[in-house]
Order: sequence, then structure tokens, then C-alpha cells
Amino acid sequence: MWPDFPLDFVKLKNDGDGKHFGIFTNGKIVSCISVFIESDSAQFRKLATQPEYQRKGYAALLIKHVIQICRQMQVKRIWCNARIDKTHFYENFGLTKTNEFFIKADLEFVVMECIL
Ligand SMILES: CC(C)(COP(=O)(O)OP(=O)(O)OC[C@H]1O[C@@H](n2cnc3c(N)ncnc32)[C@H](O)[C@@H]1OP(=O)(O)O)[C@@H](O)C(=O)NCCC(=O)NCCS
Repeated sequence: MWPDFPLDFVKLKNDGDGKHFGIFTNGKIVSCISVFIESDSAQFRKLATQPEYQRKGYAALLIKHVIQICRQMQVKRIWCNARIDKTHFYENFGLTKTNEFFIKADLEFVVMECIL
């Protein structure tokens, strides 16, 4: 996800509070996502697929799984910080852009959300 940064860059203080999902092939993790549920709102973060396994539908499977779990848990809003160049991808799952933008590590992000 951030291959040019040290591992500590992706660690969050509240990693232990999240639910973490992965897709494995031959015992190796190839795609992952984390979701942090607070009350009736859920943020998903750290969506990434190993480069050689991309464009096979793995991230889509993970997002759909997370949305299904959020629905079961009566979550009302699911959201993420999306890289600007990935917004079309999230739109496939019903997320829409908000007007909250920010820059991190020279990349532009927008908050995207879906009301369930
Ligand atoms: C964004 C990312 C997680 C997507 O992972 P992925 O596993 O490749 O995602 P999918 O395979 O589900 O979908 C990716 C694209 O492949 C397409 N695709 C899926 N299966 C396909 C197939 N069998 N053949 C061709 N294309 C396919 C999807 O339609 C999608 O197209 P789109 O981007 O035009 O909507 C991955 O590119 C990544 O790790 N990027 C670096 C980290 C990153 O940017 N994370 C997101 C931060 S916001």
C-alpha cells in the first residue's frame, strides 16, 4: 500500500480495535482490508492487493464482504479516505465523494461514503 515507507507508517494506534480481513492463496496474503466500526458508522482502511494479484476481483470481494458485515451490524454509514485516482473504483460499490479533501504523503484523498 505504501511500499516506499517503513512498516510503522501504516500502523495505527487503534489497529487492535479493527476487524481485519484477508484473502490468501497458498498460505500467502494477497489482498487485505481493515474496518473500524464506531457506533453506527464504519470506516474501512488499508485496502491493498499485492501487485501481481491485482485486477482479479480480490479487493471487490473484500469490500462487498465488509459492506455485508456492516449491514448485519446495523451500521448506517460506511466511509473511507479514497485516493483521488481510485474514486471510480469505490463508486462501483455505491460510495460517493463528499466535499472533504486532504493531502497525505503528497497524494490527494477525498472522503467517500455510502449510506446503508
Ligand atoms: C486499489 C486496489 C486495492 C484494487 O485491488 P484489486 O484487487 O486489483 O481490485 P479488483 O480486482 O477488485 O478491481 C480492480 C479493477 O480490476 C477490474 N477487474 C476485476 N476483475 C477483473 C478481471 N478478471 N479482469 C479484468 N479486470 C478486472 C475491476 O473492475 C476494477 O476496475 P476499475 O478499477 O476500473 O473499477 C489495488 O490496486 C491496490 O492495492 N493499489 C495500491 C494501494 C491502494 O491504492 N489502495 C487503495 C487506497 S484508496
